[in-house]
Amino acid sequence: MSDARNLERLALDAVSAAEAAAIAASLHIGGGDKEAADQAAVDALRNGLNAMAMKGRIVIGEGERDEAPMLYIGEEVGTGDGPEIDIALDPLEGTSLTAKGMANALAVVSFAPRGGLLYAPDTYMDKIAVGGGLPAGVIDLDKSPSENVKAIAKAKGVPPAEIRVCVLERERHEQIVADIRTTGARVIMIPDGDVAGIISTTDPSTGIDLYVGQGGAPEGVLAATALRCVGGQMQARLFFRNDDERARAAKTGITDLDRKYDLAELASSDCLFVATGVTEGDLVEGVRRRNGQISTETLIMQSSGSIVRRIRTVRPA
Ligand code: FBP
Repeated sequence: MSDARNLERLALDAVSAAEAAAIAASLHIGGGDKEAADQAAVDALRNGLNAMAMKGRIVIGEGERDEAPMLYIGEEVGTGDGPEIDIALDPLEGTSLTAKGMANALAVVSFAPRGGLLYAPDTYMDKIAVGGGLPAGVIDLDKSPSENVKAIAKAKGVPPAEIRVCVLERERHEQIVADIRTTGARVIMIPDGDVAGIISTTDPSTGIDLYVGQGGAPEGVLAATALRCVGGQMQARLFFRNDDERARAAKTGITDLDRKYDLAELASSDCLFVATGVTEGDLVEGVRRRNGQISTETLIMQSSGSIVRRIRTVRPA
């Protein structure tokens, strides 16, 4: 069976696994305990993945084996029958968002045939991303944010002042923000959650044209799988703060530490991206409990055919 067909057959079980993680995490919304929220999502997602008919292997997970007892990098999941699948996941993308009851927390999992995802270490990554429909090469990580804004404005046939750029609100991004504003473009700051920030460039209803900034490398690979499904563009480079982080990269087999990755290197094959809302969000609704029922909304993107689906599930509470 083709890789694309294998992934498509896993989609509904993948949705169930992500829904379970989101529902478990949602019990901790506003509870102030981000570790508890994360642990609940991890436990539920792991159970869901273990019920899936695949020989799954985590390549982007909760950390290395000695620091994460569950969903660690290299852990095998699934029933052991079925296709060999590599998995990138973030059971709760936005642990602080959840603990503080803020928008845009997601349970996220991506699937690809073995070897289809970059084995990114748990370090930072510089990222730039746009959605589909723009000329190839319109963004370049080695150009300044203002140059990128102008290139996108030109490609879209609008003045730079009409471009909206999503940036994680961090001190380290002050220069980036100042440079973007020299063009007149608008900066939309997010407190956390750059997977959602990057994906928002693919959804015209969000009004976001460009994502720029530094966030987690694992989140970068997850977002890349989504962009690959809908034809967006992304470039990224790992960023290391110390030798320990460089050693982490070496462990994952990365030898060129300065390499600029494009989308096809971050996610190099067919893939399936699944994200269920935990808190209310711009991309998907959060978990809602009403009248004895729990509802969830999940975004499913599949690279084969560039198909985007949304599943709204209602189950008894
Ligand atoms: P959580 O750990 O609270 O889930 O935060 C996730 C996140 O905001 C990612 O979306 C982002 O890539 C990363 O953290 C940014 O890291 P930092 O908070 O260290 O700047």
